[in-house]
Amino acid sequence: MTEVHIIGSGETKFGEMWDRSLRELAVEAGLKAVEDAGIYSRDIGILYGSSSLAGTLNLQNDIGSLLADFSGIASNGIPAVRIESSSSSGAAAVREAYLAIRSGEYDVAMVGGVEKMTDIYGSEILDIVGTTLDREWETFFGGTPAAMAAISARKYMHDFKVGKEAMSMISVNDHANASKNPNAHYRNKITLEAAMKSTPVADPLNLMDCSPISDGAAALILASEKFARSVGKDGVRIKSSAIAQDYLALHSRDSIYTLNSTILAGKTAFEKAGLKHSDVSFVELHDSYSIYGLMELEDLGFCKKGKASELVMDDIGLTSSLPVNPSGGLKAKGNPMGATGVGQFVEGYLQIRGKAGERQVKNASTGLLHSMSGTGSTSVVHILGGA
Ligand code: COA
Repeated sequence: MTEVHIIGSGETKFGEMWDRSLRELAVEAGLKAVEDAGIYSRDIGILYGSSSLAGTLNLQNDIGSLLADFSGIASNGIPAVRIESSSSSGAAAVREAYLAIRSGEYDVAMVGGVEKMTDIYGSEILDIVGTTLDREWETFFGGTPAAMAAISARKYMHDFKVGKEAMSMISVNDHANASKNPNAHYRNKITLEAAMKSTPVADPLNLMDCSPISDGAAALILASEKFARSVGKDGVRIKSSAIAQDYLALHSRDSIYTLNSTILAGKTAFEKAGLKHSDVSFVELHDSYSIYGLMELEDLGFCKKGKASELVMDDIGLTSSLPVNPSGGLKAKGNPMGATGVGQFVEGYLQIRGKAGERQVKNASTGLLHSMSGTGSTSVVHILGGA
């Protein structure tokens, strides 16, 4: 099986992009990725479009075909399919592209992730985002993603005797890094005190514990080793790819603050890559809510269960031994769901090539990307490294 390389990436700014349509965002990211890869559109063998909610938010399904059509490659006749896996759609789409190349079926694959969320107003957006939970057992009874995360946070804080500071610190770190990312939704730095005192959303979570409602798109070009070498772009490799599943409904899980899908996907990713935690130069976590940042650090094995607060309060900044979310994470870079996981790859690709500008992690040689659906039903973990 061939190695799989990232040879190009592109993304739009994440945020409220009221003057741009879903397709315009997707095509902007896609064209940037093709240009960055320095390939022709005829080189692309297959296209994966990822969007979590476009069918409901924008009344537009078949995102793969939309991307192929609007970017002018439909006439090439290549397959263009949509991958949907809630907020891990983007990472799941990259994984499909990875497998398509690794199997030898295709030499070059394109992934385009997009979401246009801010056109829907007020409580309606919460109903739609809530479709990613268990409709019958969670959302029907008023459960929202924020409420479910708050339930996990409350129990976590109680059982491990952890205060709110560590959760807030995840967000403080995200905002600090996002202030150095021109594509981030929020570029303002926040203090720990301001984060802890922000408007309550679902106790104990407040505004600064929540990822925002974002628009945005991100795209990636993956290629086989042979193709990557032929265009002189064999610098960043997907060293492993893993995906795992847990129950959809939170109440069905063994523990409401343990992400079994993350444990499984993380373990598999490390095993497949033949790497250990100390090899990782930076991580991008799916911290749609700050509590998940703590749970993910633990369930990925970077510290013991219940101990992430110590790690986080010590230092997770760009110069620490484990820089977390150099991009700004979901909290501050933003969370346009179908684009989010692809955007993590854009960051990983920049970091490993030493092209991340002000937020560059020194000697970034190995990056772990973690993406997750809803409250953790699906987790997708990739490890990137230099060739
Ligand atoms: N972080 C920081 N600031 C935020 C923010 C966030 N998450 N969300 C909104 N704001 C800011 C807005 O920029 C705006 O600022 P302004 O008044 O200076 O312009 C202000 O707060 C009010 O914005 P508004 O859009 O009215 O906020 P809201 O109260 O409707 O929504 C949340 C806030 C937290 C409810 C919303 O961001 C949310 O639902 N987030 C979670 C999304 C989610 O669950 N995603 C899927 C995960 S699987």
